[in-house]
Amino acid sequence: MSQITINGGKPLTGRVDLKGSKNLVTKAMVAALLGDTPSTLFDVPFISDVEVVSRLLNLHGVTINHDERTGDMILDPSRVEQARMTDIDAYAGSSRIPILFCGPLLHRLGEAFIPGLGGCEIGSRPVDFHFDVLRSFGAVIEKHPGGTRLSAPEGLKGTKIELPYPSVGATEQVLLTATIAEGKTELTGAAIEPEIIDLISILQKMGAIISVDTDRVIRIEGVKSLKGFTHRAIFDRNEAASWAAAALATGGDIYVGGAKQVEMMTFLNVYRKVGGQLEIGDDGIRFYHPGSELQPVVIETDVHPGFMTDWQQPLVVALTQAQGLSIVHETVYEQRFGFTDALKQMGANIQIYRECLGGHPCRFGQRNFNHSAVISGPTKLIGADIRVPDLRGGFSHVVAALAAEGESNVSNVQLISRGYERFLQKLEDLGADFTFEA
Ligand code: EPU
Repeated sequence: MSQITINGGKPLTGRVDLKGSKNLVTKAMVAALLGDTPSTLFDVPFISDVEVVSRLLNLHGVTINHDERTGDMILDPSRVEQARMTDIDAYAGSSRIPILFCGPLLHRLGEAFIPGLGGCEIGSRPVDFHFDVLRSFGAVIEKHPGGTRLSAPEGLKGTKIELPYPSVGATEQVLLTATIAEGKTELTGAAIEPEIIDLISILQKMGAIISVDTDRVIRIEGVKSLKGFTHRAIFDRNEAASWAAAALATGGDIYVGGAKQVEMMTFLNVYRKVGGQLEIGDDGIRFYHPGSELQPVVIETDVHPGFMTDWQQPLVVALTQAQGLSIVHETVYEQRFGFTDALKQMGANIQIYRECLGGHPCRFGQRNFNHSAVISGPTKLIGADIRVPDLRGGFSHVVAALAAEGESNVSNVQLISRGYERFLQKLEDLGADFTFEA
């Protein structure tokens, strides 16, 4: 358990540099399992989600060389082997990525065992779409006390799948399973996030045949084998948005090296509506506070090209400083406002509602989920003792503590290193005043 004590009220200023997206690199590492030859991935951040996936790949015979400084990673899958169930089970609860090992392991070994899944507690986070997808390819799934065992007695065969919701993970499950399944696969209702398109690029480099058609349809023609890839991971849009919001909330000025405009257009529009200033450069984006009042906004989170669910938490902190009423309607996860309790404790005026307040009814309406927030500002934030609940919520707590007057003790901060590389070092580089206790 680690804790930081923050002396807030100082603007964050300076430069941070991004590496590859957590939500791409972990999947790209799994894709390497499909190759007959080694793969090289550049810009891999040194974060604990990458560490967990590395260890699980190691257990399956993949050797990995990760240069922490440059982010270069070489993965050699030439000796893929079945891992021991007890060794895999040791990773129960530590990540959600193991569910994506299923297809590649079924192809390589004919069976797969995956531990109980982890990840942030931001809703029930079921895996029904994943299992339905795998069954549709021909997998047989058995639940065991220590996890789930999958086999494919008749091999994996191309299929037609329609997702009930454009789930990122389930789309990746289809991609990672279909590329070397026998025959063609057609996926409708697919997620088309930039990280998914980057994963498709990787698979194409490996020899896969995948087309992304209009209306969320992805078609995959199975091939016999794939080779390794060499690829530079797409930048981390979530981390970029987090620092942008931190600049706004603390009255600061942050240059986010590696941030790119095209993949963040929806965020940049909202940032401007709030009053945030930005300068788009060749190698990054400068985000800064206007020096005048911030404006309230109405946002609905959504799948791409909508406003990402992972962008809302740090932005909510900035909205506590806007003049008037802002509304955030969360339509991706049913329970992603737990983090606002700590903000309220610090003096923010936030009400959470079960109704769909953004203007469009979503699938969580009339189902008693607290999924809309009304933020009334500006309110002075005062330091408090808070505990990091999950990755994005935790980042927003730290930002609130940095914006607040006085001292805050933020515990459980190690959770933030699941998705933010060198987090404390970056805070220090931006001039944050804090002390760390391991
Ligand atoms: N869903 C189901 N059944 C399933 C799968 C998903 O009902 O089998 C539901 C989920 O409960 C959720 C919605 O579908 O309500 C969307 O979930 P999705 O599958 O798209 O999310 P994910 O793949 O589990 C990834 C990211 C999340 C990000 C979401 C949405 C990774 C490792 N995680 O999760 O990132 O919020 O897509 O963009 O890629 C984060 O980085 O902090 C994070 C939570």
